[in-house]
This record gives sequence, structure tokens and C-alpha cells, in this order.
Amino acid sequence: MSSTFHVRGGHTLDGEITVRGAKNLVSKAMVAALLGEQPSVLRSVPDIRDVQIVGELLKVHGVKVERDVESGVIRMDPSAVEKAHVADIDAHAGSSRIPILFCGPLLHRLGEAIIPDLGGCRIGDRPINYHLDVLRSFGAVVDKREMGIYITAPDGLHGANIHLEYPSVGATEQVLLTAVRAEGVTELTNAAVEPEIEDLIAVLQKMGAIISVQTDRTIIIEGVDTLGGYEHVAIPDRIEAGSWACAALVTKGSVFVRGAQQKPMATFLNTFRKIGGGIDISEEGIRFYHPGTPLKAIAVETDVHPGLMTDWQQPLVVALTQADGISIVHETVYENRLGFTSALNDMGAHIQVYRECLGGSSCRFGRRNFNHSAVISGPKTLHGAEITVPDLRGGFSYLIAALGAEGISAIHGIDLIDRGYEQFREKLTALGAEFWED
Ligand code: EPU
Repeated sequence: MSSTFHVRGGHTLDGEITVRGAKNLVSKAMVAALLGEQPSVLRSVPDIRDVQIVGELLKVHGVKVERDVESGVIRMDPSAVEKAHVADIDAHAGSSRIPILFCGPLLHRLGEAIIPDLGGCRIGDRPINYHLDVLRSFGAVVDKREMGIYITAPDGLHGANIHLEYPSVGATEQVLLTAVRAEGVTELTNAAVEPEIEDLIAVLQKMGAIISVQTDRTIIIEGVDTLGGYEHVAIPDRIEAGSWACAALVTKGSVFVRGAQQKPMATFLNTFRKIGGGIDISEEGIRFYHPGTPLKAIAVETDVHPGLMTDWQQPLVVALTQADGISIVHETVYENRLGFTSALNDMGAHIQVYRECLGGSSCRFGRRNFNHSAVISGPKTLHGAEITVPDLRGGFSYLIAALGAEGISAIHGIDLIDRGYEQFREKLTALGAEFWED
């Protein structure tokens, strides 16, 4: 059983931390290495559990993985890719959603792929229908079996015209990782264009792929016969940077996030500034700080890039509990990413959730039974409570709430945060937080 994480709130977070590569790029760039004939080297790899999981999955497929955790360098040699034993794949069932992205590369390398039951955060239904449709468009045959999904490509993989009904990040990556070595040209419309996807495209281009992104979210991929290795420095983790920014605001502190970059965070920075948060941007990173005056309520909605990332929503909601007035948050990416607010109410927040689309445009969850809008009245003094981490970002948000609360909080399931926040305990210590585990 995992330990309980106790936080004595009320300390101002003050100091500097560093963010390294983005979880949501690093894991995909590691999968891309499978496509090459030569070894690849990825730098700025964070020490998080998702990297370990993807590394293990590469190893069971015969990729030689060498990782230096401290320097953040990972070297992957795919020259001896082989079929994995079902039991070895199954050992990773439920641990992450990344295995679904192994399909294209494995089909190219081995002619078949076995995908275990997927995991990832429970923040909605999180189906894989787009992924399977994409694979079928390339000519793959999908067979759902008891041990997972068995995928083959009896006639090879061929370029396709694909339109996504929603610009899904994962489905876009599925197309990229499959199309680069499929025969012929693939045209993907309504693609996701997140900075992590741009970075994955950069990785694939280094390997020899031909990919062009047009202004209207169309991506054209011209398939090539072989790909080589790559050397790449991962884009910094803008979700982690935004999470620490919110922690600075809630604890009335000041945190310099070394490595944070302005451009991929532009929408977050606008939102943070509208709330009243202070920002100093430099080449080395961004300092986020509480202004010393009351924070302002705002209305926001999450969206695909260049909109406000859904992954920033949960930390921002905690910050808005401290803003003066009524804030509205409309979550349009996931149907069920506001459940974490009930524990914040137990801590003294005043947050009501609604099924209606509030404060912005109507979204695809509008007339369905999902509580996907929140109205937050603030400022409210938070007090310590006993809470359980529901998912990665929700968990970090509880940590932020506990840091800003009066008294002691007991947080269960803190290990989930290790999936995506590198050495957060060390960072908390560096910033002056008071916590202990038993
Ligand atoms: N969706 C479907 N069918 C599919 C795939 C997605 O209906 O086959 C729906 C999802 O249920 C969701 C929406 O489409 O409502 C968008 O999902 P998307 O595919 O874009 O998300 P993802 O690729 O599964 C990645 C990140 C998430 C991040 C989202 C959105 C990774 C490993 N995960 O997920 O990150 O929230 O994009 O930006 O890259 C996190 O880091 O905590 C996290 C959840």
C-alpha cells in the first residue's frame, strides 16, 4: 500500500525549480525510435514513471534501451526488434495509454501488434475508436481478443485520406507514426497541432520522414521506405510549468520555472495574467508570482491548441478558488474532468458543476449528461482535509490546494503524481513546502 503524504499548508512557495522534457512528447518520441533502422538519442528526458513504462515496453520488443536518469539521456537501439511474449506485454496492461501508439511502428517492423488493455488517467471514457479507425484506414485488420487487441496488416500499410471528427492528440500521433512508413501519401484533416505534436514531427523529420503541416490543420505525410535514428532535445513540459505557476499563486509565492518557454505557454500566460498573476519571461525560464493584491475572477474554456490546454484546467481551478468573484470554467476536451472539485469543496472551496456549456461556445458535451462546466466563487479560505488522488493533474491540484490550505492535509495515492511530475518531492523541498510521508 502506498504511503500517506501529509502537507502542512500555509508556507509561501519561493525559489526555483527546473522542468525537463514534456511527458506527452517524450513517450511518443520513444515510440518513434522503433521506426528507425539506427539508434536514436533523446535528451532532457524527465525522471517520471511513464518514461519507465514506455522503456520497458520497448525492451520487451527487443529494443536496447540505455538510460541515464540524471543527465536525462536515453539511447534506444531498435536494430533487433522482435515479437514480444504476450505475457510480457500483458504485464503492462492498464499502466498507460501509450501502447496503442506502438501499433503503426510494430506493423511496419513485424507485421503484427498486440495491444494490452490500456490505462491512463480516468478523466472520462477515453475510448480508442479513433485509433482503430485510423489503423483500419491504412489497411490494418483489428481483432479484439481476450488478451487485448491483435492487429495485422496482411496487405501492408497504405497512405490514406483521413478526417478526424475531433482533433485528437493521440489519433493524430497514430496517423503520423503509421503514415511515415506507409506506402504513398497520407492526408490528415482536422489534425491536432499541439506543440508536442510539432516536436514529434521534428523528431520524425530527423529520422527521414516527409511531413508538411498546412495552416488549416491538414497534415500531409509522404511515406518513405526506411527511416534512420534521431538525436533530439525534448520540448519542455508546459503542463508541469503551468502547474507550478498555479502553486505559486495559491501559496502567495514566487517560483522561477527554469526551462519554461513562452511560446508554447502563450495561452496559459494570458490566462494567468488575467487572473492577476505576475510573470517575468526570460530566455532561461519564467518566474510566476502572486501580485500581492487580490486575484481576479475570469471565464475560460479549455480547447485544443492553440486554446487553453485541458491539463492546465485543474491547477487553474484551485487558483480561481482564491480569486475575488465568480469564475466560470468550461471543459470542452474531456467530458468528466471536473469530478476532482468535490474534494476541493470539502476543503472549503465553493465550486458548483453544471451539465450546460457555460461561459463560452457550446461544445460536443452540451446536451449530454456530463458535468463539464464549473462556477467557482471566491476567495475562500481552504483548510486541510483527507483526500485521495483521482488522476495525475487532479492529484497535483490537490497538492496545490493542500499547500495553500490552513492546517494539515493527508493525501492518499500520491504515487500517481510520479507518473508525470519529475521529483516533485525534491522540488517542493526546494521551494520551502512542509510535508512528510508515512
Ligand atoms: N477520444 C475519442 N476516441 C479516441 C481518442 C480520443 O473519443 O479514440 C476523445 C477523448 O475521450 C477526449 C478527446 O477525444 O475526449 C481528446 O483526446 P485526445 O486523443 O486528444 O487525448 P489523448 O491523446 O488520449 C493526450 C494527453 C493528455 C491530454 C490530451 C489532450 C498523452 C499521453 N496524453 O491524451 O494528457 O489531456 O492529449 O491534450 O499525450 C495528462 O498529461 O495528464 C493527460 C491526460
